[in-house]
Amino acid sequence: MKIIIRDNAKQGSLWAARYIASKINEKAARTSEPFVLGLCTGSTPIDTYAELIRMVKAGEVSFKNVISFNMDEYVGLPVEHPESYHSFMHRYLFDHIDEPAENIHILDGNAADTEAECAAYEKAIVEAGGFDLFLGGVGEDGHIAFNEPFSSLSSRTRVVTLTQDTREVNARFFGGNPEAVPAQALTVGVATVLSSKEVVILAFGSKKARALRDAIEGPMSHYCTLSGLQNHPAGTIVCDEASIGEVKVNSYRYFKAVEAAESR
Ligand code: GLP
Repeated sequence: MKIIIRDNAKQGSLWAARYIASKINEKAARTSEPFVLGLCTGSTPIDTYAELIRMVKAGEVSFKNVISFNMDEYVGLPVEHPESYHSFMHRYLFDHIDEPAENIHILDGNAADTEAECAAYEKAIVEAGGFDLFLGGVGEDGHIAFNEPFSSLSSRTRVVTLTQDTREVNARFFGGNPEAVPAQALTVGVATVLSSKEVVILAFGSKKARALRDAIEGPMSHYCTLSGLQNHPAGTIVCDEASIGEVKVNSYRYFKAVEAAESR
């Protein structure tokens, strides 16, 4: 696992956007096959998306040959609701870049048959060629996508029930009322994320410090589903000084030394 530590969230977000763009450009220079990208929502990726938009507008990267799959969506929330992950993605990314509409995939939380929807999603990912890179965030309790504590590390796309903690954290988007946050969601599984050739996780601010400590230094466990990243050959966590603040001093020094040595 690689840990990229930046002074603040802004610097970390710029690093992530430029890294993703470089990966898209690298593949485009090598093959005409599409770049398959996993995407996330939440407040964390907004600055990364803003930088990607800037890069698209400046001609530094193009999403014309990118196929994207989002991680998750609430169950039963109308697509046009401002807090649906459909609305979020269009507002903060898709409406401003050149990704063809038919390349955009987001789980349908209003599907009549949610199980069939999840199975079709897994199939579509395989048919697209599998993920080149999955960009994720992390919940305060260490959840990745909506894989709450005690989700199997071998889980795949499915319907899940959100914890009360997650509904309370996300209540800020629903007028402060946890009861207004949908109780269920469709989410890719931990194994779906880890099936990607590469996984990049963003985590900024002191509220994510416990999750990062558990994921990086704790045992690999369903208690903190981000810890599944320990078993991935190309996992990177992009963090800031606040979110890395709970790891041991020696771990922190090690991550800094590795990055300094590799950038020499
Ligand atoms: C939700 C999403 C996760 C996201 C998390 C953190 O639970 N399902 O994918 O990582 O929120 O959100 P934020 O970035 O707002 O802290």
